[in-house]
Amino acid sequence: MAEERDGIAAEPPIDVEKGAANWQLDGTLVALVAGEVVGEVRVEQSSFGFGEIGMMVAADWRGRGVGAALVAAAIDWARTRGLHKLTLSVFPHNDAAISLYRKFGFVEEGRRSKHIRRTNGELWDLVEMGLLLL
Ligand SMILES: CC(C)(COP(=O)(O)OP(=O)(O)OC[C@H]1O[C@@H](n2cnc3c(N)ncnc32)[C@H](O)[C@@H]1OP(=O)(O)O)[C@@H](O)C(=O)NCCC(=O)NCCS
Repeated sequence: MAEERDGIAAEPPIDVEKGAANWQLDGTLVALVAGEVVGEVRVEQSSFGFGEIGMMVAADWRGRGVGAALVAAAIDWARTRGLHKLTLSVFPHNDAAISLYRKFGFVEEGRRSKHIRRTNGELWDLVEMGLLLL
């Protein structure tokens, strides 16, 4: 997905071994089809009561409800853990993701200007979104 250089911040080259070694399994939820992972959402729980989410769905499986199922599962997981809020960052051009998050009640809380430096030198804004679970 990093090779798409579009929806997520990560770009190639990706150090898969290092990523796997640091991966936090607690808060990682996956969508499985016939035993194969076709999507994942990660909720990083802070010690201040909120969780930060990041997610992706395999290109072949987009537009079929996987993302919505993952966000619903992340919200359930966060409530079970007693979190009061979920937050996330999304590129402003990522209409699919922003629409998905809005559908679940996330609202835009701000914008970080020229926040992410891409490998081609471009500086991309980030939109900050949040969902109160109170
Ligand atoms: C964003 C992403 C997770 C959405 O997952 P998905 O499985 O395709 O989403 P779903 O099929 O569950 O769609 C749920 C809602 O998302 C929105 N959506 C999905 N695809 C869309 C598109 N191409 N254009 C506009 N809205 C779209 C719609 O609101 C949709 O609800 P609807 O079906 O009632 O219209 C997926 O496109 C993806 O992995 N993209 C690349 C990685 C990425 O951008 N991750 C998010 C980083 S913040």
